Amino acid sequence: MHTRVTPGRAIVLALTTFACAATVAALSPHVRAQRGSASPPPPAARSRGRQVYEKHCVECHGESGKGDGPAAMSLVPHPRDFTSGRYKIRSTETGSLPTDDDLLRSVRTGLPGSAMPGWGPLLPDDDIRAVVGYIKTLSPRFAAERPEPIPASTPVRSSPDSVARGASVYATLQCSKCHGEDGRGVGAVTTRFEDDWGFTLHAANLAEPWSFRGGPDAADAFMRFRAGVSGTPMPSYTGTATDAEMWDLANYVVSLRRKPVWEMNADDVTTFYAQQEAEALADPVKRGEYLVDILACPVCHSPVDEQRRTLPGMRLAGGLRMQLSPFGMYPTGNLTSDKETGLGNWTDDEIKRVITKGTLRDGTRMLPFPMDWPSFSTMKESDLNAVVAYLRTVPPVRNKVPRLTRTFLPVYLWNKFEMLILGRDLPSYFYAGNAGSTGGQ
Ligand code: HEC
Ligand code: HEC
Ligand code: HEC
Repeated sequence: MHTRVTPGRAIVLALTTFACAATVAALSPHVRAQRGSASPPPPAARSRGRQVYEKHCVECHGESGKGDGPAAMSLVPHPRDFTSGRYKIRSTETGSLPTDDDLLRSVRTGLPGSAMPGWGPLLPDDDIRAVVGYIKTLSPRFAAERPEPIPASTPVRSSPDSVARGASVYATLQCSKCHGEDGRGVGAVTTRFEDDWGFTLHAANLAEPWSFRGGPDAADAFMRFRAGVSGTPMPSYTGTATDAEMWDLANYVVSLRRKPVWEMNADDVTTFYAQQEAEALADPVKRGEYLVDILACPVCHSPVDEQRRTLPGMRLAGGLRMQLSPFGMYPTGNLTSDKETGLGNWTDDEIKRVITKGTLRDGTRMLPFPMDWPSFSTMKESDLNAVVAYLRTVPPVRNKVPRLTRTFLPVYLWNKFEMLILGRDLPSYFYAGNAGSTGGQ
């Protein structure tokens, strides 16, 4: 069935239905990961920790712990790669391993603001200890190194003075470059980054401490400034600021907390959402970027490597090949603003027509998959305008993507027969590499 490419190079996604497009793959219970590795040992021979891992963690963190489970593809931030031994939430010096308590805490309470659930209420504590023991075996660093805990320091109690000193530390250390003057990203140079593994990451919104991975309190924030957040652009300030300055800074960050929706009354909620709406309308490009991300356009419209990382500089440049037996090989289009090979000289209406009606520029109609345009068909005009406004700002990348190749008729008929009469699940695959004219295969 995979005559055009060797199955070994397939990105391992198998869906049971074609209508479940790749976006849904991440969420679908039907997703099966097919791995080329040797068959696993029988359950009895596996440690308790490994059993817990295989039951509860593989979906996101992957069988080998590389952070490449079937749900990983569209998650921002991306699940941790346990084989690297690098952890974000530590009470240890920069570059050091986390302590067992750090890991236990992350697993028990989860990492707020990410897909990482808190397992404390779901698993017996023995299982949590066992699975933490198991993930440590996935990196050789744990056998060779000891964590270096950060010595205790005296907290500075929050007070108006401490908050004011914290605000000036914030200015001196130029936190606003990434978090904005107000901590919410306004005026930041950028708030979108890549982590050290090449995956998208957003700078934290400092007005929403409940989304901090390491916890919302001043002591948590202090520890992040002291230890840094490994693998991300959020640096350690050890050596740049004193402990006392970092405590003031932590008190300042806590003071930026806005009232969360669950503490608001009905009037507050109405005002809050009216403000959000006004901000969204005032900045359609930012709103469009957000919509493009949550509608998963970059998941299909960016070519990826074998680890499903977007090829460098190729976000939204198209060329990802999706094989949907029996229908054909669908390379995705270039959505950057390149005039020749992207959307640069498409009209707004031409772009909107693809999104809501599945009609391509030459008038041909797309099937309702893999791109699930029927779900986009009721998008509000203001949202569509925002998507187009954002796509116009995506820097041009030259990448000429070939049109889809339909499956050879007898193969198509046989596949249909298998699907409809024999009731077989026919897989769909993503392939690593770029089908377009730039970059390697
Ligand atoms: C639904 C997806 C999902 C599942 C299931 C999941 N995780 Fe995670 N996990 C994540 C994501 C996403 C991150 C990265 C969050 C970040 O980088 O901010 C993560 C991060 C982690 C971290 C790293 C913390 C750090 O300091 O870097 C640990 C440890 C962890 N997970 C353990 C587990 C264990 C053990 C299980 C199973 C019991 C599990 N996870 C199940 C999504 C998941
Ligand atoms: C180069 C960009 C950059 C700079 C400079 C920077 N940050 Fe961050 N910060 C980030 C990113 C990116 C994250 C998100 C990390 C993640 O999601 O794991 C973050 C996360 C955080 C968090 C949340 C930590 C958690 O537990 O999730 C806090 C608090 C924070 N930053 C405060 C600050 C303060 C205060 C400063 C200045 C002293 C600062 N940052 C400087 C990029 C930056
Ligand atoms: C599940 C994967 C998937 C998702 C998600 C997806 N697309 Fe597509 N898209 C495709 C495929 C595959 C094609 C090519 C189909 C064909 O040639 O028949 C395509 C074609 C297009 C085209 C036409 C490109 C051309 O050069 O002819 C545009 C424009 C487009 N998509 C925009 C978007 C936007 C905007 C989003 C997000 C709102 C989006 N797509 C989400 C898979 C996807």
